[in-house]
Amino acid sequence: MKLHHVIKAQQFTRDLLDQIFSVAEEMEKVTLSGGSDILKGKVMATIFYEPSTRTRLSFESAMRKLGGEVITTESAREFSSAAKGETLEDTIRVVEGYADVIVLRHFESGAAERAANVSQIPIINAGDGPGQHPTQALLDIYTIDKEIGHLDGISIAMVGDLANGRTVRSLSYLLSKYDDVKVYFVAPEVVKMKDDIKDHLREHKVFFAERDDLAEVASQVDVIYQTRIQKERFGDRVQDYEKARGKYIIDKSLLKVMKQNAIIMHPLPRVDEIKPEVDSDPRAAYFRQARNGLYIRMALLKMVLLD
Ligand code: NCD
Repeated sequence: MKLHHVIKAQQFTRDLLDQIFSVAEEMEKVTLSGGSDILKGKVMATIFYEPSTRTRLSFESAMRKLGGEVITTESAREFSSAAKGETLEDTIRVVEGYADVIVLRHFESGAAERAANVSQIPIINAGDGPGQHPTQALLDIYTIDKEIGHLDGISIAMVGDLANGRTVRSLSYLLSKYDDVKVYFVAPEVVKMKDDIKDHLREHKVFFAERDDLAEVASQVDVIYQTRIQKERFGDRVQDYEKARGKYIIDKSLLKVMKQNAIIMHPLPRVDEIKPEVDSDPRAAYFRQARNGLYIRMALLKMVLLD
């Protein structure tokens, strides 16, 4: 199966997901044995209009570990020609002349799709505003599969900013491809999960429920997926932000009610929604999850550039 653009979670079939997982496992071994040079001579451009640590650095590390080269513009809103008024489409048409793949993070929902519409080379969506973050969702389900041992039949609580968080949106789309999945949404009133995702889950006959009591849900699920309240997306709605933050915090007392073999995930960065006292518990999986991002991104680069 040929993978070209990576734009949204709905584009993947289960077969393709299995294939990505098995290449990611291979990449884990490649990394342990010191990397490879299968992407020698290839160039990846990362164009980031929004801040990032993990996504950009893991893509860049992934490319280098496979022998490829990286060109980059971070803070592209200020430091690329966008500041001079260039459209995204023009930027893409130019950069495709310098690179073999473009990894794009943008502040507008739908930006990656717009880029893909004009691009001859693969576009990888590294987050489009409040839209989607498909490569994060891939590493998320890869992590669940690795840690819990299966995806069919899992129960997961998505907690925090479900209205603005793009990772939980992409994750919901991916989970709807598996059987007997149960999803619990636990969000402050002002940032509840949007209807398009709930409609999608209904259409795909995925069980979901909205709950207020995190401790009660925590005692039932295999995965708690905590997210940051996305301050930057509230604009001048300061009061709404203040209402949302601090409502659901994971601390030692929550660990006590969680199942023994459950895990806590977070796309990171965290602010105060997981207390540092939780980090040393073996169920805290978020740093292992971030590490898996490297293998998934190596797999994606190999698949879009070589297969
Ligand atoms: C997330 C993002 O950018 O959407 N971070 C990430 O890519 N790991 C989540 C966030 O910013 O809170």
